[in-house]
Amino acid sequence: MAEATLAVIGGDGIGPEVTAEAVKVIEAVTGPGVFDRVDYDLGATRWQRTGEVLPDSVMAELDTADAILLGAVGAAPGATDVPSGLLERGLLLKLRFAFDHYVNLRPSKLYPGSVSPLADPGEIDFVVVREGTEGLYCGNGGVVRAGTPNEIATEVSVNTALGVERVVRDAFARAVARRGKLTLVHKHNVLVNAGGLWRRIFEQVAAEFPGVQTDYLHVDAATIFLATDPSRFDVIVTDNLFGDIITDLAAAVTGGIGLACSGNVNPEGTHPSMFEPVHGSAPDIAGRQIADPTAAILSGALLLEHLGRSAEAEEINKAVIADLADRRPGTTRRTAEVGDAIAAAVG
Ligand code: NAD
Ligand code: IPM
Ligand code: MN
Repeated sequence: MAEATLAVIGGDGIGPEVTAEAVKVIEAVTGPGVFDRVDYDLGATRWQRTGEVLPDSVMAELDTADAILLGAVGAAPGATDVPSGLLERGLLLKLRFAFDHYVNLRPSKLYPGSVSPLADPGEIDFVVVREGTEGLYCGNGGVVRAGTPNEIATEVSVNTALGVERVVRDAFARAVARRGKLTLVHKHNVLVNAGGLWRRIFEQVAAEFPGVQTDYLHVDAATIFLATDPSRFDVIVTDNLFGDIITDLAAAVTGGIGLACSGNVNPEGTHPSMFEPVHGSAPDIAGRQIADPTAAILSGALLLEHLGRSAEAEEINKAVIADLADRRPGTTRRTAEVGDAIAAAVG
């Protein structure tokens, strides 16, 4: 009998291409039959065919999985056939919110062999703990006088003391387990209400962790240091939107968006956690087998780690590091060839 259930949502664009490789590597490292895998047909095509984004019955089924692996959902930024946000809000954010994925974990590491665009990147190894269930992502706002010259559109950021404290505590614990340094990134010079709450809670929790060296950066200044001195960071904690933006930048400086993995973690295990690359559906390269599946494969390692399968996670990480070191600039492999090579190395 299988030991755990793995729900796989390939999604749109390159999502199915990269998750296929992640599944290949996961099944190679665990051996066959360890996971009872269920593939879910969700995303733009399903919506176009049936009008469904994420039916309640599917949601209930996903809730019974031990973990979820997601590719990506969403259409090209300029698309008009799928309303922008329909799948992002209706599937991805719905799952993050409903399954209480309040720790959006996004590690950034410059591996030997991956090429940073920075001339002198130094050693880069930090993790962004992005709040995953609040902030500007709540869908709190609206439009009045739509379509008139007096239209007003609002998105109100929701930050609760409980929501901020739980993610800040998680970040402090991670800092203790790493190099003992935690940076709060916000913008309390302008966002005085939300920023004030984050700052106050951060300082209160910091008093319980005297061994952790703390730091604060406004988000605009944080982008300077991410590009000029990324090795200064160990753990960063920040809100939902700032975390989204700085982790694409972090991916870029550590060798590209094709390498950046993430976990949407429910630390208490009250619902399954969900693992996915940081990147999106990349419609510009979809269907051509040219996407880099490494981010999805590394997300698979985070998934195994989360399920307590640390040795297998470590095997994947090692195989990816070796594969990256072997990559030669100017040579390209198909998406499946990258997956095959890493699967062979762990198998
Ligand atoms: P994107 O991350 O999909 O693409 C940005 C750029 O990075 C593109 O040029 C793309 O080709 C490249 N890229 C991304 N992943 C790559 C990979 N694995 N290998 C090589 N190149 C890669 O961001 P976008 O264009 O802003 O978004 C496209 C769609 O994806 C939108 O609908 C967006 O809402 C959605 N999206 C979904 C998720 C998710 O489901 N988790 C995340 C981000 C964006
Ligand atoms: C990500 C994505 C999502 C986000 C979108 C697609 C809702 O950009 O996972 O980084 O903003 O969180
Ligand atoms: Mn993003």
